[in-house]
Amino acid sequence: MKQFISVNDVSNINDLVKQAINYKQHALIDQTLGKGKRIGLLFLNPSLRTRLSTQVAAANLGMESIVFNVDKEGWALEFEEGAIMSGNSVEHVKDAAPILGQYFDVLALRTFPSLKNREDDYSEMYINQFIKYAGVPVISLESATLHPLQSFTDIITIQEEMNSRADEFANRKPTIVLTWAPHIKPLPQCVANSFAQWMNAWGEAEFVITHPVDYELSTDFTKGAIITNNQDEALKNADFVYVKNWSTYTDYGKVYENDPAWMMTNEKLQYTNNAKIMHCLPVRRNIELSDEILDGPNSLVTKQAGNRVWAAQTVLSNILKK
Ligand code: CP
Repeated sequence: MKQFISVNDVSNINDLVKQAINYKQHALIDQTLGKGKRIGLLFLNPSLRTRLSTQVAAANLGMESIVFNVDKEGWALEFEEGAIMSGNSVEHVKDAAPILGQYFDVLALRTFPSLKNREDDYSEMYINQFIKYAGVPVISLESATLHPLQSFTDIITIQEEMNSRADEFANRKPTIVLTWAPHIKPLPQCVANSFAQWMNAWGEAEFVITHPVDYELSTDFTKGAIITNNQDEALKNADFVYVKNWSTYTDYGKVYENDPAWMMTNEKLQYTNNAKIMHCLPVRRNIELSDEILDGPNSLVTKQAGNRVWAAQTVLSNILKK
């Protein structure tokens, strides 16, 4: 693996999932693989899970990790080619990234979208400029439009659950529903885009997306999925329900409606096949998901967040082996 920016960097999802589940059982089997190597974790936005799970993963491989909160601790970076730097940015990425590429064997970067200009966000300029100038493998810790480490984790978590109920899934695919949920402010589409992209590439599930009218995602990621605006209908017979808010894609970055009726509750769980409930976290309790769901027996969210370590360890080890 040369880089990890999207599912397109993965040659075989099932092989990668098996490696991750093996790392979960034998965390230190490759504890010398990263000896003498260093990863730089660069954050332009906050993180709890991504930052810490990637550091734990690097430590399991014997690799040093250094975190740099670029937004708070570094010079303000310019990303536009040919920019006349008379504004707030102090240093161009074409100067900074090659230096970071000398300090580190692998660079990992978290950025967020502006949610103001769709073309700019979907051009993925920040991560693409790092890839162009760093000269070392780059891992996305979430970009403007995708969150591949999260989606890989999500499939690990689903596969783990299916393995524990092997008889049930011996002769049928699981039904997996991605449902929009309310939120108080505009959020990126990246978790939903990425989950859809990985689900479609994986191809081992009946994949359904449900959201209110006007919350369509980009068909670049959703094509192949069943899409409906009727959440109750979508939830019928679901084995897994992935709950996530996103802002509008077409009239970009807006919150049109926040109907609390879209919140996943125990009452709605009754429509499903006793579905397991997933969310990438952080979650707004009793806005996106009810306490009763999050604290109940059907919630996979804590296990899911724990699996972030094994996803990051697998990606790092494949990059180190390359
Ligand atoms: N799910 C996720 O990426 O969490 P963090 O924002 O805390 O890293």
